[in-house]
Amino acid sequence: MIKHFLSLSSLSSSEISALLDRSRFFSQNHKNPEQVHHLLRHKIIANVFYEPSTRTRCSFEVAAKRLGVEVVNFVPENSSVKKGETVYDTLRCLESLGVEGIVFRHSDDNVFDQLKDKIKLPLLNAGAGKFEHPSQGLLDLFTLREEFQRLEGLKVAVCGDIKHSRVAGSLMVAAEKFGMEIYLSGPSALLPKSQKAFVREVPFDEALTKVDAVMMLRIQLERHESLELNQESYHRDFGLTPARLAIMKKNAIILHPGPFNRGVEISDELVEHPQSRIFKQMENGVYARMAILEWALNQKR
Ligand code: CP
Repeated sequence: MIKHFLSLSSLSSSEISALLDRSRFFSQNHKNPEQVHHLLRHKIIANVFYEPSTRTRCSFEVAAKRLGVEVVNFVPENSSVKKGETVYDTLRCLESLGVEGIVFRHSDDNVFDQLKDKIKLPLLNAGAGKFEHPSQGLLDLFTLREEFQRLEGLKVAVCGDIKHSRVAGSLMVAAEKFGMEIYLSGPSALLPKSQKAFVREVPFDEALTKVDAVMMLRIQLERHESLELNQESYHRDFGLTPARLAIMKKNAIILHPGPFNRGVEISDELVEHPQSRIFKQMENGVYARMAILEWALNQKR
């Protein structure tokens, strides 16, 4: 049966570690065509994004091209979706055309439940609904592991709109598998209701003094029906500022999945601060997605 890449929760810690090892290999060899360009040569994938994306869509495309994969970029706004074609029929069409994997983003939390048993080629979750964004989760783990040479025992604060964040969802799944501790901070209305033992709700300034990394999240206004955001007061109460960075450990790092709103959840000058790994995360996304594409497209079918 075909294996989809839908969630980090369906992978064991050793499978995730193997993907992280492969990400490391690609980080060292990605520009060496003799090492990598033949690995998936002549395969074809489609990028199918029903929600906007900069990083995920472009990095899957760069990752594919480094591995010799051809990419079809399907744009719903300019397709027969406009004539009433359903998601299932679009994917079946791409399957019939000979596409061998689909990188897929959608706003519906349950979209993969409706597709995973019917589509016979690998589906790669590029962010669905508000639960998981597993390729982002993998690149975040890779960034942490490269920085600290371990995951076990790391403490990570996550601050912002956690309730609507699929990035936080994947990080919490991974944290449980690798023995990390997660501290959640943010406006109480934006924190999830139930939490596991390794997750603690802690005031932001207290969390910052304890952690190895802080993951800042933007407020996902597109997932709120009615939320009035006062950017100034949000920045004062929950923004990562130079004063807050000063209370963190000297070797702690700043993460953000992007896109970021400078001056809201993070001060402008911290985005490219020496302790920030935000652009490193984007770079690492290519290596992590090369590992995911290899995992998905090399399956026997
Ligand atoms: N981190 C992330 O998913 O960014 P994009 O929405 O730009 O893909």
